[in-house]
Amino acid sequence: MDLQTIEEIPARMIEVGPLDHITPGQGRCVIAGDRQIAVFRLRDGRMFALDNLCPHRAGPLSEGIVGLDHASQLEAVICPFHSYKFALRDGRGLDTELHVRTYPVELRDGRIFVDVA
Ligand code: FES
Repeated sequence: MDLQTIEEIPARMIEVGPLDHITPGQGRCVIAGDRQIAVFRLRDGRMFALDNLCPHRAGPLSEGIVGLDHASQLEAVICPFHSYKFALRDGRGLDTELHVRTYPVELRDGRIFVDVA
């Protein structure tokens, strides 16, 4: 008989879905209670999660372009509304004083989880 390890998922973690739910190089918006969270999967496998609504005028960051910001050498998302850039790692604005909240992301058994605590 095979024994299967059942990993306990803390209540603060929300499941986004399987890894292939997000195309490499793109983002996806997930709803967690009254929050919208943008989850990004980079082409190199790294994952990041930020509030989906841009702090400027609520542009959907999950629909923004992700890539390396050459000036800061940080991976960033460009808001689709007015092109402000935010670092994926810590949510800081790269060309604005505005800031986006970030969330830890984990991959467990091929499934994506975001810590919304
Ligand atoms: S709404 Fe995002 S830059 Fe304006």
